Amino acid sequence: MTDATASLRREPHPISGAIYQELGDGRVRVEDPSKGKWGVFNWDGTWVEGELTQADLHYLRYIGGPNLPEGRDIFWTMLPAADLNPLKALAAIPGRGGSDAQRPKIIAPYVPGPGKETPDGPRSSGHFPVEVFLENDRHKDRIPEIYRKSAPYPGGPKKVPVARFFDKKYHDLEVEHLWKKVWQMACREDDIPEVGDYLIYTIAHLEFLVVRTAENTFKAYPNACLHRGRRLCNHDGKKAAMFRCPYHGWSWGIDGGMKDLTCEWDFPGVRQEVSNLPEAKVATWGGFVFINPDPDAVSFEEYAGPEMLQHYAKLRMADRYKHAHVGRVIRANWKLMMEAFLEAYHSIATHPQLMLAGGDLAESRYDVFGNWSRLGHVNSSGSSPQRGILMSEEQTLDAFRMAADINRLMMRELIGDEVDEFSDAEMVEQTFNQLFPNFHPWGGWARIVYRFRPNGDNPEECLMEAMLLAPWPKDKPRPPAARLRMLGPDDPWVTADELGTLARIFDQDCGNVPDTHRGLKFKQPPYVIYSAYQESIIRAFHDKYEQKLGLAEGE
Ligand code: FES
Repeated sequence: MTDATASLRREPHPISGAIYQELGDGRVRVEDPSKGKWGVFNWDGTWVEGELTQADLHYLRYIGGPNLPEGRDIFWTMLPAADLNPLKALAAIPGRGGSDAQRPKIIAPYVPGPGKETPDGPRSSGHFPVEVFLENDRHKDRIPEIYRKSAPYPGGPKKVPVARFFDKKYHDLEVEHLWKKVWQMACREDDIPEVGDYLIYTIAHLEFLVVRTAENTFKAYPNACLHRGRRLCNHDGKKAAMFRCPYHGWSWGIDGGMKDLTCEWDFPGVRQEVSNLPEAKVATWGGFVFINPDPDAVSFEEYAGPEMLQHYAKLRMADRYKHAHVGRVIRANWKLMMEAFLEAYHSIATHPQLMLAGGDLAESRYDVFGNWSRLGHVNSSGSSPQRGILMSEEQTLDAFRMAADINRLMMRELIGDEVDEFSDAEMVEQTFNQLFPNFHPWGGWARIVYRFRPNGDNPEECLMEAMLLAPWPKDKPRPPAARLRMLGPDDPWVTADELGTLARIFDQDCGNVPDTHRGLKFKQPPYVIYSAYQESIIRAFHDKYEQKLGLAEGE
């Protein structure tokens, strides 16, 4: 390899074994030794030349598409947060701190997986009951009870009409029956760190002013003046003493009590009904501020349910430091974008590069506890049943313990001896979880939090956001929370290098979802099919959605 090509990407495909070589200018040469053919493609999948005329779209993007700047392709749990750098610890581990090129690449052809029967129903042939990991945990006494609890969602497959993803009728029902009724994450407490700091939380066409009114107290008001309805605030703000309407000057304190009713002589008998701004319900959990516009809503704790509260009890979400917050406008319905993250089933086709290092995630676990769902749980086995690679229990437990040791070492750099409070299962946990309908804090130490919202009243666009919450020492003051950086619909995620490798994953996911949105407009028959197990959390979402919106099953 010459110096000129040294920095170009080159990888074997984990299924076909074809070599994908970046050529520059967005071109990729694909050489398939098994066929004795080569072809050149643009990263968007268009063929340029050669006898080989088909290639893996997501791998072309991975090899030739927009990329992170040099040195930023870092796994998100290891991203340095301020002056705490877990990479230092990893560099000391033989074989872990070196380059990817030193690691073996696992290449094997696709084989139809037969699956296997279990007491809970059919599962992937790489499936191990979670008890295998928990019973062999070297720190069993530290495992929270909720890790032992399973809640597979019964039924399925399920069909949902395509119109649910683009017909404005559903969006309007969502505003009335979801967004005006559910607990929803408005911001981090650290986003409004001082008394009087406020931000405008927007959902569909609704706006709320979320304000810190005292050291640990927050309130939320519809962002509309009680006189003639002008938006009280146009922007987020700091250290406000009051909200003064820019139109005629009516004003209210940050506690919602009226201060000035200008020319009150002209509004006889009005003061009493405008003396307080209406309030949405507010709750805090894990360092987040939630609101619920419904005055009759159950408490946040009751809504979230005991399983969610227990699962995060040791994880100190409230003490974490938000070191990245990136959003992007996506040309797809918010539910479609969210569903791309509610199953691991897509990994084999959409994120093929993950299989170079091992498993295909077909043995991931799916639990549904009321409004909270959990995907993944403790570490996957590392098997790749869709490529005929099945690890033994012994190999699986070796991998589980090695991952726990590596994460423990890395986490010690971040939170010191506090890591000794955690079991192996907690150290390796990678779960993508959901609080209905749109809030997604990962479990364990994975850092990631997603939120998906409609883009205003346009059901054909959404706002996807990702936050990274780094563990932070109890005794060290946290740096200021990162501010939201919004990307436009044509900006690749890799322009947000603060997300590290996660940005490359998102670009692959977003390489599907807008095309899914387009395809649904002419799909025949006009419904979507969700599977019994791997898509069970999505089925549960749509069951709840139907109940909330007053729809018949499959309407
Ligand atoms: Fe706000 Fe008139 S609309 S003071």
